[in-house]
Amino acid sequence: MLGPRLLGVCILMWMLAWRWVPMGESAIGVNWGTLSFHKLKPSTVVDLLKDNKIPKVKVFEAEAHVLKALMGTGIQVIVGIPNQMLSLFTSSSAAADLWLRHNVSAYLGKGGADIRYIAVGNEPFLTSYNGQYQNLVMPAILNLQQSLVKANLAGFIKLVVPCNADAYESSLPSQGAFRPELTQIMAQLVQFLNSNGAPFVVNIYPFLSLYDNADFPQDYAFFEGTTHPVTDGNNVYTNAFDGNYDTLVAALSKLGYGQMPIVIGEIGWPSDGAIGANITAAKIFNQGLINHVVNNKGTPLRPDSPPVDIYLFSLLDEGAKTILPGGFERHWGIFSFDGQAKYPLNLGLGNKELKNAKNVPYLPSRWCVASPSSDAQNVANHMRIACSVADCTTLNYGGSCNEIGEKGNISYAFNSYYQLQMQDSRSCSFDGLGMITFRDPSVGDCRFLIGVTDKGSESSASQIRYQWLVILAFLII
Ligand SMILES: *[C@@H]1O[C@H](CO)[C@@H](O)[C@H](O)[C@H]1NC(C)=O
Ligand SMILES: *[C@@H]1O[C@H](CO)[C@@H](O)[C@H](O)[C@H]1NC(C)=O
Ligand SMILES: *[C@@H]1O[C@H](CO)[C@@H](O)[C@H](O)[C@H]1NC(C)=O
Repeated sequence: MLGPRLLGVCILMWMLAWRWVPMGESAIGVNWGTLSFHKLKPSTVVDLLKDNKIPKVKVFEAEAHVLKALMGTGIQVIVGIPNQMLSLFTSSSAAADLWLRHNVSAYLGKGGADIRYIAVGNEPFLTSYNGQYQNLVMPAILNLQQSLVKANLAGFIKLVVPCNADAYESSLPSQGAFRPELTQIMAQLVQFLNSNGAPFVVNIYPFLSLYDNADFPQDYAFFEGTTHPVTDGNNVYTNAFDGNYDTLVAALSKLGYGQMPIVIGEIGWPSDGAIGANITAAKIFNQGLINHVVNNKGTPLRPDSPPVDIYLFSLLDEGAKTILPGGFERHWGIFSFDGQAKYPLNLGLGNKELKNAKNVPYLPSRWCVASPSSDAQNVANHMRIACSVADCTTLNYGGSCNEIGEKGNISYAFNSYYQLQMQDSRSCSFDGLGMITFRDPSVGDCRFLIGVTDKGSESSASQIRYQWLVILAFLII
């Protein structure tokens, strides 16, 4: 039996534990997307999360190897359902049951994954989808909720719908409203969320506002004061994030849910591939954002309650993403594709700087470049083909490799393709225009990548063997 003193200590500790995470304090999490040509092993990524004390992660699909790696880590997880799957759940509650059993329940339990939310669709109301998914969301949600109830999971797993900020609009935050064609769906959605104690999840991208609109005042996108504040009645907004957030608060208020908790599902700044996307800007934006929310600064319409959680977009660069939105799309990571920090960043989670991924199984240190004799006409063709498969977005205007010259361009494209093909020597032939080199062709900030194998420890052993061979060869020479 506990003595009264011990009991007292326990109660005190319990109270302290509760105070430890005061209500209204934002937690920082990350989005972990896997559209990469050089995927790290899930266990390497999970170690990266742990080393950086990142407590929450959002994934876009229920990938088995990802969810398995997250088991037993205590990291809280949002599991996404892709838009393309929504129609399946509208027509069949059996499909919803099956998805839940196969993709969620299977990972729960003692020592399992700490799945807290299921994201039903990803930005399904995005304007550019032309309403394609719009009417599937509520029926899919209702079926999935039934599945949660049947599985006895409705108590601790909540359904949410990450919306892009283009779901609402207004010139002044206080006038915020959902797009007219969404009003009815949004009314149903927020009522559903509210009845389950779930938050509204929104993705906010000041970078895109700046990228899409030449008149957008540059400093308004960041957090360091502005020469272009927005005055809205008695409220003054000095950054796009607060303005956008309060526009959502106003839109929710119009539907009668002005107090609904808000989670930022995606926010970040890309570091390459387009004008305005660079390391300096990405660091200033992300650090500014983290300081802004960690210091518990609310917004004019919600002075005391900043967002519940913020999920940075993104953890890693994803070189296999579509570049339809722009070349920056493959460069949102706070880490490059191989888990190396791009710049110092204090996530406010205990470490002062980011810690790099460990034991990354790189391919050998060799690159493919343009050979000295290259017929320009023929090369252009090969380059185009290489870049249609591999990633060449750093060559774009504003990108880190834009100024490496014509020959540099060719070499960059050849190498990107060669690494994508796991350094298969045939992939560096290009009709005799390419050649393999052991000297790093990187220039200045322009980094010529070395691929990462997906074969895990086995290949890192062969890499070490290979390096020894190279050293031995040098010694003999
Ligand atoms: C589980 O999720 C994956 C990834 O989204 C999907 O491909 C698969 O069909 C899902 N399983 C079921 C039974 O729905
Ligand atoms: C980086 O981007 C910001 C805007 O996002 C721009 O103001 C700045 O000039 C850029 N820096 C470089 C070195 O290109
Ligand atoms: C290299 O390629 C980029 C992207 O296509 C282009 O903007 C740049 O002008 C090229 N450089 C040369 C010297 O051709």
